[in-house]
Amino acid sequence: MRTMTARGWVVAGLMACASAAVWAQAGARAVSVDPLVIGEVVARDRCAVCHGPCGQSVAPNYPRLAGQNAQYLFNQLQAFARGERLDTAMQEKVKGLSATELEAVAEYYARQKPGNTPSGDELLLAVGRYIYERGNRHSGLPPCATCHGAQAQGSAELPRLAGQHPAYIQRQVMAFRDRNGPRDSPVMRVMAHRLSDLELEAVAAYLGNLK
Ligand code: HEC
Ligand code: HEC
Repeated sequence: MRTMTARGWVVAGLMACASAAVWAQAGARAVSVDPLVIGEVVARDRCAVCHGPCGQSVAPNYPRLAGQNAQYLFNQLQAFARGERLDTAMQEKVKGLSATELEAVAEYYARQKPGNTPSGDELLLAVGRYIYERGNRHSGLPPCATCHGAQAQGSAELPRLAGQHPAYIQRQVMAFRDRNGPRDSPVMRVMAHRLSDLELEAVAAYLGNLK
């Protein structure tokens, strides 16, 4: 690690993400400063250009990482590293990082304050909320809430969906449709096949709008 200069820079960085401290206090786990410093250095050097220094990516094709669950983030980073989840940019970026660095950067981003993508389309949001909370009994779609949580906050292993970019959510669900696509999950493959395009658009708008 580039210690001295990096550290000075990190202090400035932590100040730039001031809201992070507030969010971190809400977290149940106490983590010593050092892993977070490592995490911040990795984030600045390798990730911020796409995901933002505080985990708020500007372009909707880059997922928001702020407030995402640490264990889920770490699992995904390992999946990219092992070639189980395919994305050229991500596979390139995790190359050469140790498990400790991946864990640290996952923890760093998990501690940032989540954002959201507000939508004013009340009718579409209502359809999305219905799908999320009730599913669709005609197509056998279970409520997303049964796994992703009532507030779409996820759990240790399951992703938080609240506030994620709608375009990213739509793209991931489409990716799950194809068993040989860039990403596979037997559970999400079933969901992806049962969601119609309109339902997917609606549920993505609803989730992006959530705080
Ligand atoms: C050149 C742009 C770029 C850089 C730099 C980058 N990423 Fe990504 N990242 C992406 C893209 C694009 C995706 C979405 C891939 C997909 O569609 O599956 C992604 C997805 C992810 C995901 C999956 C999130 C989820 O919700 O499943 C994680 C975690 C992640 N990136 C972490 C990182 C970390 C940590 C770094 C730095 C070590 C990093 N990224 C650097 C572009 C980038
Ligand atoms: C039976 C449990 C279950 C249900 C119900 C479920 N999901 Fe999932 N979802 C998962 C799991 C498990 C993953 C993580 C897959 C992985 O590790 O790649 C996931 C991942 C996702 C992702 C990827 C998030 C990211 O950050 O990349 C999206 C988007 C998603 N689910 C949307 C939905 C939507 C929308 C619904 C409702 C239509 C839904 N899920 C219902 C279990 C579920």
